[in-house]
Amino acid sequence: MSVRKPVIAGNWKMHMTCVQTKQYLSQFLPLIQSTSDDRHLVIAPPFTAISTFAESALGSRLELSSQNVHWEDDGAFTAEVSPLMLLEHDVRYAIVGHSEPRKYFSESDEQINRRAISAQAHGLIPIVCVGETDDQRERGEEERVIRRQVEQGLEEIDPKRLVVAYEPIWAIGTGKTCEASEANRICGLIRKWVDAPDLIVQYGGSVKPGNIDEIMNMSDIDGVLVGGASLDPESFARIANYKRK
Ligand code: 13P
Repeated sequence: MSVRKPVIAGNWKMHMTCVQTKQYLSQFLPLIQSTSDDRHLVIAPPFTAISTFAESALGSRLELSSQNVHWEDDGAFTAEVSPLMLLEHDVRYAIVGHSEPRKYFSESDEQINRRAISAQAHGLIPIVCVGETDDQRERGEEERVIRRQVEQGLEEIDPKRLVVAYEPIWAIGTGKTCEASEANRICGLIRKWVDAPDLIVQYGGSVKPGNIDEIMNMSDIDGVLVGGASLDPESFARIANYKRK
């Protein structure tokens, strides 16, 4: 039996006010009441909704993630959030290296690595995202690109307190899902490159109620990182309640 307990995570990105967060949780929490505890259920709200989220989800099995974390505990870093600020709200995971900050804010693998190291040093579990662009895949460079992101982004990171999310950029928000077998192949390669048989590797990119069961039945995929479909409580509940054959 594998010890890799799947992590089903919703990434709300820049969506959801505090009012919307409360409404969402009042619908979502009843829908996961009988979900098997063989999986972790996680949501990453925007920073402004973290406190409301923590209060509204108190006593439930839902775990909190941030969408980023800085490598310093405090200092002159406008717009950044420190791990200490997250711990105050019982945040357990921190997404780092998502393709959006990589693309829009030129996040480098070195910065991502510093964020991940800081997260682990404070007891947070980093969810480190990797993945290739459309062009890189067309040129057949996906393995080289992802391997570099893994090697540089995960330097000195303990794989036992880590989640890696394989998110092919061309599949994010496009409705184009990576074939489950191909996502499975890349997730297996990532685990091999990190050289950690128990490493949790998620898939992300247009995950929906209609494809979750197929994805979660793959041998090397240990969960999903869901954008758009996590914004609707019913569709995310269906994803959380995926069925394994
Ligand atoms: P979508 O599920 O909207 O494609 O987004 C995936 C993602 O970026 C999750 O982090």
